[in-house]
Order: sequence, then structure tokens, then C-alpha cells
Amino acid sequence: MSKMLITGRRRLCGDVTVQGAKNSALPILAATVLTKGESVLYNCPDLSDVEASLQILRYLGLKAQRSGGTVLVQSDGLSRHDIPDELMRKTRSSIVFLGAVLASAGRVKLCLPGGCEIGMRPIDYHLKALRRLGAVIRERHGCLDCRAPHGLKGADITLPFPSVGATEDIILAACTASGTTTITNAAREPEITDLADYLNKCGAQIHGAGESTVIIDGVNSLSGIDHAIIPDRIVAATLMSCAAMTGGDITLKGVVNSHLGAVLSVFEDAGCTFSAFENELRIKAPEGKRLRPMKIVRTMPYPGFPTDAQAPLLAAAAIADGTTVFIENIFENRYRHTAELVRMGADIKTEGKFAVVEGVERLYGAAVEATDLRGAAALIAAGLCAEGVTELSGVRFLERGYEHFELTLSALGADVKKI
Ligand code: EPZ
Repeated sequence: MSKMLITGRRRLCGDVTVQGAKNSALPILAATVLTKGESVLYNCPDLSDVEASLQILRYLGLKAQRSGGTVLVQSDGLSRHDIPDELMRKTRSSIVFLGAVLASAGRVKLCLPGGCEIGMRPIDYHLKALRRLGAVIRERHGCLDCRAPHGLKGADITLPFPSVGATEDIILAACTASGTTTITNAAREPEITDLADYLNKCGAQIHGAGESTVIIDGVNSLSGIDHAIIPDRIVAATLMSCAAMTGGDITLKGVVNSHLGAVLSVFEDAGCTFSAFENELRIKAPEGKRLRPMKIVRTMPYPGFPTDAQAPLLAAAAIADGTTVFIENIFENRYRHTAELVRMGADIKTEGKFAVVEGVERLYGAAVEATDLRGAAALIAAGLCAEGVTELSGVRFLERGYEHFELTLSALGADVKKI
């Protein structure tokens, strides 16, 4: 089991290119199941979650191979409709294969891994929507057997909550359904727009992605295409937190500034300064003084403050000069990193969806354990500014979403080693 050793109090400076977005690559890889021919996906991050999706594609009969940051998928060989347990267990996001395989093969079988580190992760919105599109779904002990005996037909679907995964699943199932599907209260995340951009280039007719109402006119077939995946706004937010916590000055390259609005305003409250160019963003920590507290940070569906950035930003709040209150509105168990931050000297109290963070002058290196992806990132950020050495275990969680993160941070001047 690998660990990370972080020696703190090193200022982060320099340029860094932000990796491709994990949460865009995953649904786009599932979307290749709907297409014929070959897709070339550029800027596809080298992550364990992405590798798990490539394994699922290969198991289903497609050809999928990586060459550096480019993934090539040859989609003509679909020969299976079931996703094995051990692949489902590797990453929950494989649920996004549900709509794509059902639409393409007319049937899909998979067992759900159940909850995960950050919450129960139910899929009731997905199942209700697929049934409205004509799917017949049998659920037994967490295993699903979905069929579309008469094919999928367009329908009007209203989501109770703008769920990212459910919105993606519906778009994937509706692309080649007969007739028109309207999603009301759709999620608006940039990764939804990126998925729709890829699918429309393949010949789909998706209108309004990124807005609350998405309309999909079903088409007969889709052909593979080349596509560059958008940059990862959560990795960008994490790097911003690392710079802010170490008094640093870094320039993020290859970012889409409009994806970072809610995160930028929180760092501005904390006293950081920014200069944005077309696809670059420079962040400078306040000179010679502590971060200001961020007052109240509420996680919301996009374009609100992203839940995935809560943990890395909470680490920054832990050393701010005052109190910050976090309200985690999206997932029910997303403060597990706070106990580990307290071991490093932070002063944090959590109660349900609330976390009250009293900024302290200094954090101290300690042996800490990550139990989820974004919590791991928060602990690394804390280790970068802590006095002494932090030994982080649970690095496998980090590798789900951060590509060679120790190399990225070392190139910015950090002392981080993977052992
Ligand atoms: C996606 O998860 C992301 N994962 C998550 O990122 C992200 O935190 C989340 O969206 C919110 O932005 C991927 O894209 C692979 P949701 P998803 O459906 O689709 C409830 C990371 O760190 N809900 O928008 O699972 C659900 O329990 C990961 O990269 C239902 O109740 O999120 C949650 O409370 C973590 N029933 C809320 O909606 C459903 O059928 C939001 O979930 C579906 C969801």
C-alpha cells in the first residue's frame, strides 16, 4: 500500500497544466458504446477510475487503448450487456454505463456496489427515468436486469434534484431512442455540456445541455469522432487551495475560467488575487499574511460552489485567520477528512451537513489516512503547509482522480514523495 510523505512549509510557485476532467472522461467513455467506428479522446486523464472504465469497455467487446493522454476506442465489437461485479466495485461512476449499454444492446445487467465513502449514492432517479423511456427493470438484492423489449421511446422527464449522473444516464439512453426526450431540472455541470458536445459531434441531436432543460431528438445511429476532454475544474480548485495555503503564486494552464466562478469568489474572499487570460489563471496568495476566513461556503449544484471542492477548500479554511462555516448540501457523509485534519492541529467541529472551522495559526505534520478521493486531496494540501512531515496513507483514493499528483506538486516546488 503506497503512502505519500509530504514535508511542509514549501511555497508553491510556477506553471502547471491542469489534467483532463475525470467526470467528463467517464461519461464520454460510456458514450462510445453508443457509437460505431472509432473515437479518439484527447486530454483523457490517466486515473484508476478511467482505467476501470476502459476495462469495462474491453469486457463489453470494444477495443480501448491508451497512448499517453490519448485514448482510442473502437466501438464495433459490442458483444456483451453485463458488467461484472469486480469492475462495478472499482468505481461507482460505472452506473453511467446503464443507459448507454441498454440503448445500444437492448439489455444491461449489473450489480450496484451500494454506498461509498461519501454517501449512500442511490440511483432511484436513474431507474425512474429509464422506466419512463420504456425500460423494464428487475431489481434483486442490488442487482439490476434492464431490458428494452420494444426499444426506448422519448419521454418528458423531470428530475427531483439536478443529479449529474441521472442527467448523463438519460442523455445516453435518449440519444438513439425513437422520438424526443425532454429533461426538466437537468444538472448544468460543464461535464454534461462536454458529454453533449461529444455526442452531437457523433451525430446526436442534444439541445440545451448546460441549462436546466435539455431536449434530445433521438437519431438512428452515432459515429465515433475525435474529441478533447475539458480540463478538470476540481483539480484546478485543489491546486488553487495548495497555492493559497503555502503563500504561493502559481499559473494554471489549460483551464476554462468560466467553470471556476464559484471557486474563484471564495478564494477572493480569502484574500487571494487572480489574473485570468483566455485559458490560464494565475493565483497569488495574500503576501505575508494569513488567509482571511471564507465566512460561509454552501455546496450547491453547478454553477454554485462544487461539493467536490469542499474538502480541499476546508483545508485552506483550517489555517485562515477566523471562522468559516461549511454547509455540505449534496452528500450526507463528506466530512471524513476533518477528523484527520484535527490530528494535524485543526480546530473543526462537524454536525450533520455543517462544519465549523476555526482557523489556527499552524498545522503540524502527522500520520493521517485518506478515506475518499477529495479528502485525500485535502490532507495533501494540509501537509504542504504543515510544520514537519505528514505521512498520508490511502493514496489509492487520490489516484482515482489526481493524475501523478506528487509529480505535479513537486514541479511547483513542494517536497512530496510517494513511497
Ligand atoms: C457526480 O456524482 C460526480 N461523479 C461526483 O464527483 C460529484 O460530487 C457529484 O456528481 C455532484 O456534483 C461523477 O461525475 C463520476 P449526483 P453523481 O447524482 O452523479 C442524490 C468526485 O469526487 N441522488 O449529482 O453520483 C445523491 O445521493 C465525485 O469526483 C439521488 O438521491 O452525483 C446526492 O445526494 C464524488 N438519487 C445528490 O443526488 C439518484 O438517483 C447528487 O448526486 C441520484 C442521485
